[in-house]
Amino acid sequence: MRAASVSDYRELARRRLPNIFFEYIDGGSYAETTLARNVADIEAIALRQRVMRDMSKLDMSIETLGQKLAMPVGLAPVGMAGMYASRGEVQAARAAAEVGVPFCLSTVGVCSVEEVAKAGVPPWFQLYMLKDRGYMKSLIERAKALGCPVLVFTVDLPTPGSRYRDIRSGFTGSSGLSGALNTAWDGITHPAWTWDLFTRGRPHTLGSVVGAVTESRRVTDFLSWIARNFDRSVTWADLDWVRETWDGPIVVKGVLDPQDARDAVKAGAQGLVVSNHGGRQLDGVRSSISALPAIADAVGGDLEVYMDGGIRSGLDVLKALALGAKACFVGRAWAYALGAGGQTQVARMLGTLRAELAVAMILTGCATVSEAGRELLDRDG
Ligand code: FNR
Repeated sequence: MRAASVSDYRELARRRLPNIFFEYIDGGSYAETTLARNVADIEAIALRQRVMRDMSKLDMSIETLGQKLAMPVGLAPVGMAGMYASRGEVQAARAAAEVGVPFCLSTVGVCSVEEVAKAGVPPWFQLYMLKDRGYMKSLIERAKALGCPVLVFTVDLPTPGSRYRDIRSGFTGSSGLSGALNTAWDGITHPAWTWDLFTRGRPHTLGSVVGAVTESRRVTDFLSWIARNFDRSVTWADLDWVRETWDGPIVVKGVLDPQDARDAVKAGAQGLVVSNHGGRQLDGVRSSISALPAIADAVGGDLEVYMDGGIRSGLDVLKALALGAKACFVGRAWAYALGAGGQTQVARMLGTLRAELAVAMILTGCATVSEAGRELLDRDG
């Protein structure tokens, strides 16, 4: 099948990836209510069609935090991408660079920040606050020394939410012989993935934090180490601590409440991502898109407001811009494409988002993406 849409990449990833990794990407926490809301609430928004305007010239570029982006989209931090395709973070970072959008590397990437930076453009770097502050400081120093332009500080994971699919698939909580057999069988039944990962994809560790983890063998053991080491005591004051080492822009990721958004401004952040972690943390919270307008109204003039969660097409991107986002990040969309076929497919998927965004702009009469506003939406729709 040739993928035409993000849901097609999802289907290709479902076929190619071992079940434990497909379910890890695809799933959300608990009953997946928020995951479903993220998508459904965007779907329910109606664009306002306008015709007979000169749409021969479109400007899809934006400037943000000192960078020029070819379109208002970035690749959100996604953990363990190097288990979906060989050296997956490097492949995705190269696809993003090809298209002219930022790639944000997760703390829990298989490829280290050094490996990704040396393969091309230094990535935006996402930070989870772990208890070992000495290690955290050295990690921030490494990202800075490599020229990473933006630090994305994820604040909605002081503890991991429970994901039922990962328990059922054996991704979390299974160990010993049955866990090993399960994993081996999953590998045998997905030979293209196994060949790719085991001939060109090693080592299967979490590259940026490998020095802090001593007792792990499987990549999933690393995740349980990380889960035990998230720092729940973290507060806004810790942004000052980060600033002692990092002097570049900081983007706080995981804000859903206007009051928290104001606190992020007070704490000196340069940007925030309206996000519920793709419905993978506190199930039952509102969708990102429904939280966006109030946050954009509260702080849109003070820092860069981005959003993620449920973006599955270029039409969705325009809806988010209309409701106040400067740019959107996609998580699953690129993880599916990577799982479907590496760098080529990630670049193709981004090309699809771009083409869809162009159509949405032309048919809403929006020639300049940075000027998108609520007039693009049909309030009675
Ligand atoms: C994530 N997300 C995430 N966020 C983060 O800050 N650090 C991380 O390591 C990860 N890891 C991760 C793994 C997988 C498989 C997914 C799907 C997501 C959350 C991610 O950055 C983003 O917030 C959501 O993916 C956005 O929702 P959509 O685009 O997936 O609907």
